[in-house]
Amino acid sequence: MIYLADTANCDQIRDLIKYYPIEGVTTNPSLLAHEGIPLSKAIPAILDCIGDKMIHIQTISENAEDILREAKIYREVFGLKSNFYAKIPVTREGYRAISLVKDSGINVTATAIFTQQQAMMAANAGADFVAPYVNRLDNIVSHGIEVVSDIVKGIKMYGLKTRVLAASFKNVDQVYRVSLTGCHSVTLSHEVFLALMSHPMTDRGVQDFERDGSQIYDIKI
Ligand code: G3P
Repeated sequence: MIYLADTANCDQIRDLIKYYPIEGVTTNPSLLAHEGIPLSKAIPAILDCIGDKMIHIQTISENAEDILREAKIYREVFGLKSNFYAKIPVTREGYRAISLVKDSGINVTATAIFTQQQAMMAANAGADFVAPYVNRLDNIVSHGIEVVSDIVKGIKMYGLKTRVLAASFKNVDQVYRVSLTGCHSVTLSHEVFLALMSHPMTDRGVQDFERDGSQIYDIKI
C-alpha cells in the first residue's frame, strides 16, 4: 500500500516529505479553499515541494467537455506530465468525462465515491484510481472499510488495472483496517500521518535505550 498526502498546505507537505517518502499529493477544492491561496499559486507551490511525485488536481466543471478542457488547461498551465491525475467526481457527466480525459492521455482519479458500483463503473470507464471516502461513509452509519473491501475484491475479480485510493480518514484504526483489505493506496491528512508514525511504547523504548546506551556506548560518533 502506498501513502499520499491529502493536503494543500505546503508546510505540512514539506514536513511529511522530510520524514517519510510519500508518493504524492491529493488536493480538492475544499482543501485548497482552506489554505486561502488561489489555484494558480497553490499548485506551483505544491509542485516545488514534491517535484515529480504524483499530483491529483480536482476538476470543478459540470459537463464532460468542460471537464476535459479544464484538465488539459491544468496540464498545460502547470507544465504537468505523467505525474498529473485529473480528479473527476463520479457524477453522470463525470463518468462521460473519465473516458474523454483518459483518451486525451491524462491520468484520471475518479473521486467522491461512496459505493462499490460507483467505483466499478468508474474503473470500467478507464479511471486509473478510484477514491472512496471512508470517514464520510462511517459518519452516516455506513461502513467505509466494507465499501473499500468490496471495491478491492471487485477490481481483482474482474482483472481491472484500476487502483483503489482510499481517502477521507480521521483515525489510525480506519487506515489499519483499510490496509487489511488489500487496498492499493491511501491519502491522509498531516494529522493522521503523524498519528500513524508515532506510538508511546516506541518513545518509551527509545528513552530506555538511550539511558542504557549512554552507560556502555563508548565509541565517539
Ligand atoms: O480526498 C478526499 C478527502 O479530502 C475527503 O476527506 O476529510 O473531507 O472527508 P474529508
